[in-house]
Amino acid sequence: MPPPSRLQSIKIVVVGAGSVGVTTAYALLLSGLAAEIVLIDIDKSRALGEVTDMSHAAHYAQARVRVGEYEDCAGATAVIVTAGVNQKPGQTRLDLIKTNYKVFKSIIPQVAHHAPDTILVIATNPVDVLTHAAHRLSGFPVERVIGSGTAMDTTRFRHELSKHFGVNPRNVHAVIVGEHGDSQLPVWSLASIAGMRLRDYAAQKGIPYDEQEMEACSRRTKDAAYEIIQRKGKTNYGVASVLVSILEPIITNGDALVTVSRVGSYAGVDDVALSMPCKLNRSGAHQDVPLLLDEKEKEALRKSAESIKAVLDALEEDGLAE
Ligand SMILES: NC(=O)c1ccc[n+]([C@@H]2O[C@H](COP(=O)([O-])OP(=O)(O)OC[C@H]3O[C@@H](n4cnc5c(N)ncnc54)[C@H](O)[C@@H]3O)[C@@H](O)[C@H]2O)c1
Repeated sequence: MPPPSRLQSIKIVVVGAGSVGVTTAYALLLSGLAAEIVLIDIDKSRALGEVTDMSHAAHYAQARVRVGEYEDCAGATAVIVTAGVNQKPGQTRLDLIKTNYKVFKSIIPQVAHHAPDTILVIATNPVDVLTHAAHRLSGFPVERVIGSGTAMDTTRFRHELSKHFGVNPRNVHAVIVGEHGDSQLPVWSLASIAGMRLRDYAAQKGIPYDEQEMEACSRRTKDAAYEIIQRKGKTNYGVASVLVSILEPIITNGDALVTVSRVGSYAGVDDVALSMPCKLNRSGAHQDVPLLLDEKEKEALRKSAESIKAVLDALEEDGLAE
């Protein structure tokens, strides 16, 4: 953790004081990375209740937590957006997207107006489409509009592989790229432990390497959110920790490599947001680490990019995305 003197100017705003927003604010509070955390929500009473509760924890963390307005985004190092609605029974995915796009229209221009130099970190789903929307609505350069993207899936994937191979997740180098959703892809060709491809590591350790077991790891990664939501109705702890892990290199200028979503050109598809490893620091997310994907993975990435692009095109046709 950086010394307190470096933290005195760090203000982080969280828009959306629902499950993801408050769990993130709380994780951030305990991390000691911010001196001031501001929560903004359309439901001010809920936000005030959360902040009052959290301020009693802030007492121990030496940070200030408060409810704010969009003016309070001024001077924020980063603004995390978790506001939106969740899918309702019978609602199509596109209807949900349209609803959350409208929510973003009411939030992003206000944030951009009051904090023209901040970094936007988007968590609301569908996160790739809304990262693209936030880029358009803010007018910010692509580096300063970061979607949490597959950072969550990469964490889950490493967790699954670490259990299978019996090592700490930090020693598993493996990423999920593409859409934070069904078309995401695990990059098997580059996955390694202790500098060895997974198959070689397994052979050295005498662990059976079974393609079906590996596929099961990636399937459990993809299905994790569905399963958790079926049991408890939401996910919040994992994503909150992932959001703090995205904020940390931004706050500390840490040059950490994280799979986050950013607008760019991917596998021949232009002007789309999806996740690839990016270097995160005080000026945002930088894509200076091209992945050497094999041909099958390049094709899967193209399909993932095209599926996100199709949603963006549908929004344009509806006249929403201007
Ligand atoms: N990216 C990820 O990995 C990930 C993981 C989990 C959840 N999510 C997404 O995060 C979002 C939030 O989930 P949640 O469980 O916290 O939902 P929630 O319903 O608990 O909270 C949403 C909050 O947004 C607020 N809100 C709605 N419209 C607003 C507006 N116009 N201005 C300000 N605030 C507004 C609501 O009042 C509510 O407090 C969802 O889209 C969810 O799918 C993303």
